[in-house]
Amino acid sequence: MKITILSLFPQMFAPLEHSIIRRARDAGHLQIEIVDFRDYTTDKHRRVDDIAFGGGAGMVLSAQPIVDCVMAVDPNHTAHRIFLTPAAKTLTQDRVVELSKKSHLLLLCGHYEGVDQRAIDLCFDEVLSIGEYVLTGGEIPAMVVVDAVARYVDGVISPESLENESHTNGMLEHPQYTRPREFRGLTVPDVLLSGNHAAIKKWQADESARITKQIRG
Ligand code: ADE
Repeated sequence: MKITILSLFPQMFAPLEHSIIRRARDAGHLQIEIVDFRDYTTDKHRRVDDIAFGGGAGMVLSAQPIVDCVMAVDPNHTAHRIFLTPAAKTLTQDRVVELSKKSHLLLLCGHYEGVDQRAIDLCFDEVLSIGEYVLTGGEIPAMVVVDAVARYVDGVISPESLENESHTNGMLEHPQYTRPREFRGLTVPDVLLSGNHAAIKKWQADESARITKQIRG
């Protein structure tokens, strides 16, 4: 899968140089391209924003550099283009799985007070929020999308790791334990040491149901 990220702050994407995402990139499962759309402004002072029509605090990102950048990096509109904004429906695990089936994603990171709506209307397929809170820009949301989607790209993590995890089948995951059997006076539930596979499966399912009910009500 290819993911193109349009941002004014390409240096913010250092986390994508590490861990599983780094490995996925090195192995060729994931190709990540980060493009500074300031390079596409026609303004002689390299400005990419302007005051808002109708007034209000803060600047608005202009349509021109965004539209020209999108046209340059995805001229035939083969990418699925997403604008990250808090004013959108929230990303879910089901949507993550759907997005992982696309061959090319293009993510636009907004900043300041917003983006000229015409850039979104002209160029984008979808608007997405990562949660009901406001961040300073779309860079962290873009990394959330990359990380969540990459897990479902073939070869990135083992298929077994994608089973029985939180948010698949609408359930949250049961607790996990590793050695030692006792740590600071706390022991591992006996059933997990019993070797009784059916009893272990039942305990995990019951715990999963209990935690899901506790969290979701
Ligand atoms: N930009 C700022 N806050 C955001 C959010 N919650 N989701 C997506 N993009 C954002």
